Amino acid sequence: MISRRKFLAATSLTGASIVTGNKSFSNFVEQSTILNSPIVISTWNFGIAANAAAWEILKNKGRALDAVEKGVHVPEADPTNSSVGYGGLPDRDGRVTLDACIMDDLGNCGSVAALEHIIHPISVARLVMEKTPHVMLVGSGALQFALEQGFKKENLLTPSSEKAWKQWLKNAKYQPEINVENRLFSPTKLPGNQYNHDTIGMLAMDAAGNLSGACTTSGMAYKMHGRVGDSPIIGAGLYVENEVGGATSTGVGEEVIRNVGSFLVVELMRQGYPPEEACKEAVMRIIRKKPNTAKEIQVGFLALNKKGQYGAYAIQRGFSYAVCDGNNQKLMVKAKSYS
Ligand code: GLY
Repeated sequence: MISRRKFLAATSLTGASIVTGNKSFSNFVEQSTILNSPIVISTWNFGIAANAAAWEILKNKGRALDAVEKGVHVPEADPTNSSVGYGGLPDRDGRVTLDACIMDDLGNCGSVAALEHIIHPISVARLVMEKTPHVMLVGSGALQFALEQGFKKENLLTPSSEKAWKQWLKNAKYQPEINVENRLFSPTKLPGNQYNHDTIGMLAMDAAGNLSGACTTSGMAYKMHGRVGDSPIIGAGLYVENEVGGATSTGVGEEVIRNVGSFLVVELMRQGYPPEEACKEAVMRIIRKKPNTAKEIQVGFLALNKKGQYGAYAIQRGFSYAVCDGNNQKLMVKAKSYS
């Protein structure tokens, strides 16, 4: 639990307390200072398997953009993962609707939101980026585009997700269950013996020193049909600035959108904040603006800078992330948290 005293302290901070420039963070311990050494990081424990797929590309001097796309394919295709892609928990109407976005080292980006029936929304997002003059396609328009591009229409509602949804319906109020992601840090089993793991956000730097990122999710379980979270919104769920670094987020997307969270993290890194400190400041903005809401929700940020330094910070305990580089192939790290 977050103490009232800590929240009051947080809300009393002012902008003047934020000092920019590397000197302000002299106590910060750098995880890595190797320039142009490939690295991939991603949210939650399931990031380990996703990173392994991305590493296959990075270790062969492949492009970070290809690595993040292939990396997040792993949880997207995993039927046991109830918060990403196939097997994702549906909205309150029983429909699995997926959000995803991708961003490359040149500032190009693509996104899909509320996409149904396509197992790899991240690849549709990439084609939005590469084959259309647009950044974002939603709903039936995104599906139409995906089918035109040769993607196969599939049923993404697995029997166990359907069972969980039917169980939820028994007591459901006709409103989104906003705290369902809160169960991540005090894990209560969701109906149907599932946990809601939340979004995968992945950031990679390749051997050429270029950065890319991807973010993909089925969103908040049992959300209102049409609800879109932070994950497909450039600047909220993901942002990459090749000269500076990248950031991605997980948790209750509404609060991330309100604070344009990932863009904020990158801009703070541009000002000299190390990744963890930048993530922490983005978390603190959420807490300061809505201290009562923040007590009840989880939001976490993960960041990677151009030097290959990484860091994360979350409101609540329990947010983990996975790191894969030349030294560590599987490392899973618990992010520091406010609670
Ligand atoms: N962060 C995922 C969502 O809110 O949809």
